[in-house]
Amino acid sequence: MDLAHGALVAILLTMIGVTSSLPRRKHEDKLPLPPGPKPLPIIGNSHRMNTDFPWITYKEWSDIYGDIIYSRMLNQDVIILNSVDVARAILEKRSSNYSDRPRFATMELLGIAFRTVMRSYGDTWRRHRRIYHQAFRPEAAVIYRPMQLRKAHQLLVGLLQEPANYELHLETHSASIIMSAVYDYETKPNDPLVSMIRGAMDIILHAETPDKAAIIDSYPALTLIPAWFPGASFKRHALELKSVLKDMVEKPFQYALDRISSGLSGPSMVSEGLARFQGDASFELAIKESSATAFGAGSETTHSVLLVFIQAMVLNPEVQKRAQAEIDRVVGSDKLPDFGDRVSMPYVEAVLRETMRFYPIVPLGVPHSAVNDDMYEGYFIPKGTSILTNIWAMTHDATRYPAPFEFKPERFFTSSGDLNDDHVTPVWGWGRRICVGRYIADASLWSAIASMLAVFDFLKATDASGKDIDFEPRWTPGITSRPVNFPCRIIPRRRDMDIEKLTSLISTTV
Ligand code: HEM
Repeated sequence: MDLAHGALVAILLTMIGVTSSLPRRKHEDKLPLPPGPKPLPIIGNSHRMNTDFPWITYKEWSDIYGDIIYSRMLNQDVIILNSVDVARAILEKRSSNYSDRPRFATMELLGIAFRTVMRSYGDTWRRHRRIYHQAFRPEAAVIYRPMQLRKAHQLLVGLLQEPANYELHLETHSASIIMSAVYDYETKPNDPLVSMIRGAMDIILHAETPDKAAIIDSYPALTLIPAWFPGASFKRHALELKSVLKDMVEKPFQYALDRISSGLSGPSMVSEGLARFQGDASFELAIKESSATAFGAGSETTHSVLLVFIQAMVLNPEVQKRAQAEIDRVVGSDKLPDFGDRVSMPYVEAVLRETMRFYPIVPLGVPHSAVNDDMYEGYFIPKGTSILTNIWAMTHDATRYPAPFEFKPERFFTSSGDLNDDHVTPVWGWGRRICVGRYIADASLWSAIASMLAVFDFLKATDASGKDIDFEPRWTPGITSRPVNFPCRIIPRRRDMDIEKLTSLISTTV
């Protein structure tokens, strides 16, 4: 069901009297809602949106209406925050009121409301966060570094052997880090467990696109439509999902339990969680549910950032050369970079920060929700409003980042040549809901980027006559967005590099 079709169904249902009631606003006659385009009856502002890339529409609106905008999508109140200052003032300074998530009828229907990302603000969500924190806080996350370096080296081997399949190798790299950090599971090529989880994630992502969620949440009566009804694909997805969801939660967890009882287990979120919260039944369920969330939250995100990086290197060869020169100077050519080199390579650090800024791969963040009515700078924020943060607009704010559409790592240096203190933190979200995997993600990204730059050149692909194939970056739509497959050549910097030489380089590094 696409948006137009969905809106049509919604209008029809409204005409025959099947609507959910609009929220009442206690203060609306006293204080205005934030400014925004005037909504049409029933469909609100849905018709004005760039539905694939809504962050672009919201940025255009913010140029007219300001940093805080109100919009109505079908019958949902949505407030979009377009600047870092406003997002911090609301989501961080008033975090006790803004750490909830909107409830979507689709999620209940699909049985996927258990995931940390969409859990309501409350005790179960707090348990999930404690489990993540225990395993992935900065001091604990360093234990995963040798594994992350090993996975970066496996990525190099994959890229050397099959450069054309680079996207698959990035996907495998990110997935296998999560499986190891969460379950101490070592993925194999064409891994059955990873394929099963990916299959489930695919169904989830197709079933919970924001347009479907908005429509079904606005018109819960739609969930009563039988699965065979034309357009009721969400119902069929729900049936499909039921059978795979149990496996997705139980099977990797059982694997981790077996490893722990065999005495062979290395560090993992599950083993840390069980050791710390042993005997508490509510935590045991929370460990299972939070760990089943990690793959969806952490795999596609990491792999998407690495795609942004490779595309940026192909399009900005002078940046790539400068980063490689820094690696050669600091690390030399007899080994590969390791975490001990990180602090000595500020330009590589700036490349990573610029990658995160240039294209924040969760451009609108994950929606927060207001627990109670609130007021901000003279505007009324009704209870239950979904709060979106336009992270893309923030990292393309030309007053903060001049020439925002250019890839310029130099912007992260002070005039005296030191790295500045801008860590592009908005890309990880806000307040009590800030990404729990940010430290482990940062280490996965750094080790992959530094290793790839040490070994490969990322170049434009060439046509039969040897001419470069130019391309304009294109991006996928969705909650996470990443480059659409682009033509490129990945060739070793040392022309005599083969698998034997790479293996020997790897063995001198670890
Ligand atoms: C480059 C990689 C990543 C990016 C850009 C990213 C970004 C984000 C963002 C924007 C949010 C929403 C925060 C908010 O609501 O304000 C989030 C939440 C979350 N992330 Fe990440 N993330 C990444 C990697 C990871 C990894 C590796 C994991 C797991 C190991 C992870 C687990 C989570 C979880 C569980 C949440 C939900 C937190 C909650 O609702 O309380 N993420 N992430």
